[in-house]
Amino acid sequence: MLDSPIRFDPEGPTLRLLDQRKLPEEERWIECPDAASAAEAIREMAVRGAPAIGIAAGYGVALALARPPADGAGDAGEIRERFEDAARLLLAARPTAVNLAAAIERQRGRLSGTLAAGNPAGLAERADLAERAARALLAEADAIAAEDVAANRRIGELGRSLLPAAPAPTRFLTHCNTGSLATGGYGTALGIVRSAAESGRQVEVFACETRPRLQGARLTAWELLAAGIPVTLITDGTVGALLARERVDAVVVGADRIAANGDTANKIGTYQAAVLAREHGVPFWVAAPFSTVDLATADGADIPIEERSPSEVTELSGKRVAPPGAAAWNPAFDVTPARLISAIVTERGIARPPYRESLAALAG
Ligand code: MRU
Repeated sequence: MLDSPIRFDPEGPTLRLLDQRKLPEEERWIECPDAASAAEAIREMAVRGAPAIGIAAGYGVALALARPPADGAGDAGEIRERFEDAARLLLAARPTAVNLAAAIERQRGRLSGTLAAGNPAGLAERADLAERAARALLAEADAIAAEDVAANRRIGELGRSLLPAAPAPTRFLTHCNTGSLATGGYGTALGIVRSAAESGRQVEVFACETRPRLQGARLTAWELLAAGIPVTLITDGTVGALLARERVDAVVVGADRIAANGDTANKIGTYQAAVLAREHGVPFWVAAPFSTVDLATADGADIPIEERSPSEVTELSGKRVAPPGAAAWNPAFDVTPARLISAIVTERGIARPPYRESLAALAG
């Protein structure tokens, strides 16, 4: 089974990404030798999922410092400039997942610490400073990736504790893809499913196909089958019919950004699943690393929502299905109000309503 969709090759140095646009037909890895190609891979969704985007951005800014400029190694000012140019490119790639901005902010702090530790005057020392900065950012990117996997495993354990003891099998509904592919490895919402299965519990998953990019049909189904977990695909419009007719024990989804009051941005279609879960008395859980919680954003109205090309809606697999002239609105995410969320599972603990208090407490 896939460990992680993100690898770093220090020899290149190159960021290697499993191209998720090609799955499940083809397992092709692409190479990003610099920040611009990493930003392009994020924008075009070769890598996607909030934690995975954050990790790729962390490596992206590290790559900007990994190769000295043609006119020799720079001083602290020039190193900072290279960092900020790369940061701008990466931040513009996708606006909703806060993990991207959080990873860049963390790298900015690491760079400042490294630059403050030495202020050399001569050329030889300057070369040394650039190399030390590059090494520090690579180490930080590795740490962001490793911490994400550890967080996901903990989310899996904590989420398992929410599950009803009976009847078997435990049946989940999920939306989009929140597995290894969307993270540094293991997964968030799918991490809970995996953890339950690994503990010996019989589990089954209903997965929304997730229009328009089909992360559920292409990626979640692929990952669950690889893990030996039965999966049944439904169209996004089938959620109501499913919850009305079948027993589902929990709806479990990931998040791209959780505001201070618990309002949660996630893949378009999540909100309607939450409304339907409430209507049918099914618990609705959000699973995310604490790096997805954005206490600086007061509520969902302040979360920037990415709008993607109308062609993702008017075309299917590159073939036009809508008549020419039909407009399409294509927000990539929606916001689920906190009042519809039964619990937010993070590696720091499980937050319960009221979220303003419980998330602040977990923030410490
Ligand atoms: O557009 P995507 O595929 O990047 O959207 C992904 C999602 O909405 C996920 O649910 C979210 O990022 C959490 S991934 C652990």
